[in-house]
Amino acid sequence: MFEDLKPAPADKILALIGLYRADERPNKVDLGVGVYKDNAGKTPVMRAVREAEKRLLADQDSKSYLGLAGDTAFNEAMAKLVFGANADTTRIRAAQTPGGSGALRLVAELLKHARPDATVWVSDPTWVNHIAILRAAGLQVREYPYFDAETGTVRFDAMLAALKGAPAGDVILLHGCCHNPTGANLDASQWTAVAGLLVEKNLLPFIDIAYQGFGDGLDADAEGLRIVAAKVPEMVVAASCSKNFAVYRDRVGAAMVMTANAAQADIASSQMLAGARTLYSMPPDHGAAAVRMVLQDPALRADWQAELEEMRQRMLLLRQRFAEALRRQSNSDRFDFIAGHRGMFSRLGLTESQVQRLREEHAVYMVSDSRINVAGLPENGLEELAKAVVSVLD
Ligand code: LMR
Repeated sequence: MFEDLKPAPADKILALIGLYRADERPNKVDLGVGVYKDNAGKTPVMRAVREAEKRLLADQDSKSYLGLAGDTAFNEAMAKLVFGANADTTRIRAAQTPGGSGALRLVAELLKHARPDATVWVSDPTWVNHIAILRAAGLQVREYPYFDAETGTVRFDAMLAALKGAPAGDVILLHGCCHNPTGANLDASQWTAVAGLLVEKNLLPFIDIAYQGFGDGLDADAEGLRIVAAKVPEMVVAASCSKNFAVYRDRVGAAMVMTANAAQADIASSQMLAGARTLYSMPPDHGAAAVRMVLQDPALRADWQAELEEMRQRMLLLRQRFAEALRRQSNSDRFDFIAGHRGMFSRLGLTESQVQRLREEHAVYMVSDSRINVAGLPENGLEELAKAVVSVLD
């Protein structure tokens, strides 16, 4: 049966984990996979999450099944975190999923069920797994222009023009904040324009919000999503807790659907859960239970927000200082955009062979499209790193 099977191509982000681990050079720098790291290069368990886990261990009296939607209190708390504490959630249903990728797949299954011939439009570029997940669910994928590599900014007019040409009923995938891989984001007035267009052209927004709290703050990062939610009758959302709660390996996320009324929301939710049943049946509980405790307990929540804010501030400072180091080393403003971007990533604008040289000659690891994980920047080695980057430029 398996004799003619070809090996699956390696995921260009995850492959870096193994390559980096195997590198024995002591000064190696990991700017690859999107995982927050502190100054010591560690990805800590957040304080509030650890405390919630302790309480879970002490108090949890059963590990019996919870059901297809997972922890319903987690789902309610996540809907409020994303749509806003005072949001009317009567038309919204959420389902706990294994990570943000699980949420994306569950939403994709729902879309395929609701409109089998729908096309999902994704930004050029987007997170590589977006395209793979959408196609795996049987959906068609097309790209809309998004990033201007020359200026490091959003090609907003071109984006709007492409969306204007999308047929009614198509789906538009938008990054809620902290665009992956570019770090270039829409501002509030651009979100308002996009929301207006979505309504006018009857396009369904699909918002992936995987980095809430990593850009401009928890509420600020959801502003675009909330602008859209206030205008459109229907939308779908995939949220991740991997980054903002640092529960990467525990796989915590939520798929959400907002429909025209509560009755439709119940039906859409039932379809989403039927999809879960065939994909993985029920989501893993532990991480989501810890996140739910953090969101429900005022003291834990305050501590979580404080630690998240420290992480966000650290990434902002690293952006600023790396842009300054690159300015000094390159004698140009070519990399200034890094300081203006938000979230975990920016693209340096290097060619694949320049990225390869950085890896081979300087033990600096980044995704082949020159995406860097800002949290991986070495606080005390920025000047050297900038020198290495400049040394591989043409
Ligand atoms: C990333 O983009 O690096 C992260 O979202 C991790 C992943 O699964 O690719």
